[in-house]
Amino acid sequence: MSQRPRILVIGASGVLGRAIVAELSPRHEIVAAGSKSGDIRIDIADPASIVAGLKAAGPLDAAACAAGAVNFHPLSAIKPATIEHSSYGLGLSNKLMGQVNLALAARDHLNDAGSITLISGVTADAPIATGSSASMVNGALASFVMAAAIEMPRSIRINLVSPTVFEESMTAYGPFFRGFDPVPVARAARAFSRSVEGLETGKTYRVL
Ligand SMILES: NC(=O)c1ccc[n+]([C@@H]2O[C@H](COP(=O)([O-])OP(=O)(O)OC[C@H]3O[C@@H](n4cnc5c(N)ncnc54)[C@H](OP(=O)(O)O)[C@@H]3O)[C@@H](O)[C@H]2O)c1
Repeated sequence: MSQRPRILVIGASGVLGRAIVAELSPRHEIVAAGSKSGDIRIDIADPASIVAGLKAAGPLDAAACAAGAVNFHPLSAIKPATIEHSSYGLGLSNKLMGQVNLALAARDHLNDAGSITLISGVTADAPIATGSSASMVNGALASFVMAAAIEMPRSIRINLVSPTVFEESMTAYGPFFRGFDPVPVARAARAFSRSVEGLETGKTYRVL
């Protein structure tokens, strides 16, 4: 019997991460990671931690990210500032560059024909009040994935999953997403399966 593919899931303990693990664990060996939880520790905001975490994970066929933080502040409260001092700094350094750095490190680490799957969100396409950072970061991730896909070596693929708000997160996020139809998080996890177990690259899978 052939060995099961090995996939690193960053953010495996979260709402989305647990659903990805549930979807893929019947067919994959899961290496769970988080900044404070999992088989190995990876802080996506720290490039050295990403590189060290991939090394600790050993040979991998796929890397999937279910982490990424942004600030939600009204535009009227956001002042011009350097990235370090900006309200936008968290989203740029964590959800955006954290995942970009993960993709760059995974490019050099994954087995041939491996896959990278990143996470964005519906605010890339639909604005919400206080969501300018989320929209900026999620839009940038789609453009990055589109461009990075055509330069990935060794048949490595890269895709993005862009879900709307999850039913399971409505208690926390419902007030931000009035009028949006939430989806079960399992649907977003199946989009990860499509990326990991399919053949496409450079795609954004919208889960609406
Ligand atoms: N919830 C929604 O409705 C929804 C909808 C669309 C998109 N999304 C996106 O999906 C992603 C996950 O959301 P979620 O609701 O599942 O979040 P969550 O339940 O808060 O889980 C976050 C996960 O990320 C890990 N994590 C946090 N900071 C990290 C860091 N610096 N480095 C590595 N791992 C880190 C956490 O584990 P540790 O505590 O161990 O670090 C945890 O496993 C986010 O990018 C979010 O924007 C969410």
